[in-house]
Amino acid sequence: MTDVTLSGIHKRFGAVHAVRGVDLAIPDGEFTVLVGPSGCGKSTLLRIIAGLEEADAGTVAIGGQVVNHLPPRERNVAMVFQNYALYPHMKVYDNIAFGLRARKVAESEIGERVKRAAGMLSIGNLLDRLPRQLSGGQRQRVAIGRAIVRDARLFLFDEPLSNLDAQLRDDMRSEIKRLHRDLSTTMIYVTHDQIEAMTLADRIVLLRDGRIEQMGAPLDLFERPATRFVAGFLGSPAMNFVPARLSADASVVEVDAAMLAVPAGRRASLAGRGASAVVLGLRPEHMRRFADGEQREGVVRLGVTIELIQPTGSRTYATFRLAGVPVVAELQAHDVNRPNERLDLGVDMNRAVLIDPATDRVL
Ligand SMILES: Nc1ncnc2c1ncn2[C@@H]1O[C@H](COP(=O)(O)OP(=O)(O)O)[C@@H](O)[C@H]1O
Ligand SMILES: [Mg+2]
Repeated sequence: MTDVTLSGIHKRFGAVHAVRGVDLAIPDGEFTVLVGPSGCGKSTLLRIIAGLEEADAGTVAIGGQVVNHLPPRERNVAMVFQNYALYPHMKVYDNIAFGLRARKVAESEIGERVKRAAGMLSIGNLLDRLPRQLSGGQRQRVAIGRAIVRDARLFLFDEPLSNLDAQLRDDMRSEIKRLHRDLSTTMIYVTHDQIEAMTLADRIVLLRDGRIEQMGAPLDLFERPATRFVAGFLGSPAMNFVPARLSADASVVEVDAAMLAVPAGRRASLAGRGASAVVLGLRPEHMRRFADGEQREGVVRLGVTIELIQPTGSRTYATFRLAGVPVVAELQAHDVNRPNERLDLGVDMNRAVLIDPATDRVL
């Protein structure tokens, strides 16, 4: 059982308080992604789990055992980094076998393990090559092979795909997901890329300034963000944030001259605030072209003038202005054809979020 428990972790580098009290319990076999903007403390936290950094306060437990005082090699943890430094003068086989030889594993067993790992990663035909004879994606696979061959009880990944081009990144992402399915080993994966986080994770831990902002299943975070930060971080194109006012009885959100009805089912929880300023959070996909005669509960009509059109092929992103801020709507390919077009949008107020501008918390 390789569950991981972090309790009250703090880490300072001089004046920089990089990790500020992280409590986290990762169950055995889970794929957890630590995600957040650059500098939020992801790598530091991962290195503390690996034993490459020492926490100033708090405990790290792996498989129920506190490991704070164990050196990295005694934690039985495998780590894959962004810069997959391979030994340049060693063939792929020997790169993968290196850690096993250092542990005095028998050559016959090394041969079996290397072949099994190479098979999983589809690099069986590359074992006789030198690193310089490989593409970036193949090198990264060798680096992952070097990690999985060890039968570690826990895998740690620090932005392993950042140096690859987009197509290769997509391929390797699927491979890492398949690897987790096949090995069922606990994995902790660090990335700043929200799409990587959404697609890989059983559970996302979103970090901000050294603290956990929110954690949960990817779609839970996406559909029920607790704060403006979470709402804005997940999703591409990002959620639009529009200054607005909520009426005293919470029946309408006023934006510019438009009155957007709040679905009846959502009013009770919002009433009692009195008339107040709110931020209306609308994802691009919460808006679509309003069809004549359309009547859907919670979908309100909004007339806009499109300023900018960005076709992607299957979808078209259309930008208009609302309460002075640019808003992006995701429309069908031919919904809008030229700038300055007037268009009626249907805004899905069932899915819109309302945010308290004083606290940045979702209401
Ligand atoms: N060895 C170090 N010495 C000084 N500051 C560091 C060191 N490592 C990280 N930091 C600082 O700690 C903060 C968190 O860094 P890091 O964990 O690398 O963030 P992330 O991986 O999320 O980008 C940053 O402000 C970074 O500059
Ligand atoms: Mg980092």
